[in-house]
Amino acid sequence: MLETVDLAPRDAILGLTVAFNEDPRSEKVNLSVGVYQDEHGKTPTLGSVVEAENILAAGPSNKAYLPISGSPGYSEVVQELVFGPEYQTAGHLAGAHTPGGTGGLRVAADFLHANFPQATVWLSEPTWPNHPSVFAAAEVPTKTYPYFDQQTNSLAFEQMLAAIEKMPAGDVILLHGCCHNPTGIDPTAKEWQQIVQAVAKRGLLPFLDFAYQGFGDGLDEDAAGVREFRNAGGDLIVCSSFSKNFGLYRERVGALSIACATNDAATAVQSQINRAIRANYSNPPAHGAAIVETILRDQNLRETWEKELSAMRDRINGMRQQLVDSLEAKGVPGDYSFITRQRGMFSFSGLTKDQVEQLREQYAIYIVGSGRINVAGLTPANIDRVTEAIGAVVSK
Ligand code: LMR
Repeated sequence: MLETVDLAPRDAILGLTVAFNEDPRSEKVNLSVGVYQDEHGKTPTLGSVVEAENILAAGPSNKAYLPISGSPGYSEVVQELVFGPEYQTAGHLAGAHTPGGTGGLRVAADFLHANFPQATVWLSEPTWPNHPSVFAAAEVPTKTYPYFDQQTNSLAFEQMLAAIEKMPAGDVILLHGCCHNPTGIDPTAKEWQQIVQAVAKRGLLPFLDFAYQGFGDGLDEDAAGVREFRNAGGDLIVCSSFSKNFGLYRERVGALSIACATNDAATAVQSQINRAIRANYSNPPAHGAAIVETILRDQNLRETWEKELSAMRDRINGMRQQLVDSLEAKGVPGDYSFITRQRGMFSFSGLTKDQVEQLREQYAIYIVGSGRINVAGLTPANIDRVTEAIGAVVSK
């Protein structure tokens, strides 16, 4: 029977790292997957994380199951991080600790399928390639709304609003909380206000994928959209990932935070979320969430972590500028100044599929097929090689 199984295509992002690892060329550069690298090209374990692990190792060991939705203390600190210090007055909250942001998205997708089977989830065009896959796996229908204006390398705001105004009431709109993946382009504070109003007016359920909090302009600054929705007082689903901002990639730490209008609604939503989790992975792994909770509850550790996060953010923004400067210095045709206006790990470079392929084949430089560059993978040691190669492929 199993011989009838077809080979699945390689993952659009993680498959590139497999190919990168198999590439024997020593000069290779991986700018594909969204993983932070320091100026030496290493993905560091944060000092705050090491300290938290030491604290946990010195404490009592407990390998019994966590509750289905994870440690309640964890959901509370996450809600404070996401919604701000007044999170308790912000609404009636349900929450769960999930295995990474992807785990949270899948739980939310299963929840939507079970409770709102008629609802379509609207995704930005473009979006993270795993979004359509996760919703398809949960049998949730998806459609797209315009997001990116290729001519101006900016948000296609008017088209986006016009699309929202036509979405059927009861549908779900997925927005990127900050550091849009793949474009790096976020709405301004004023645009968020207009989006919130339009979403509320249409009776849509807002769902914010918040995987990069702190990588754009700061922990609170990056929560502008989430908090605008929160202040408007309607229902809201937020999916957090702590892969990037805590550097906990392989620990798989994420969360769902769901704001509801009433206490009864929050209790019912929590019960349905728990049901989805129970049938999926039963209950979450403990270690990564314990690290996050330990850091967020300890003032010193939290300060250390915030400094480490700022340092990562500053390095990325510094590399954005260096990328633009280096492209200009090499006389690469085109105006790349838009790269410094983008936020987060990624830059939507405008490179074509063909140019991306040439970069990989001829120069051992790996970027995602959409032209998305992981700016956090650029270092002082590789930037010249990268911009030279870009210059060569765009000048052809
Ligand atoms: C990315 O977009 O590169 C990251 O979110 C990692 C992933 O799982 O795709």
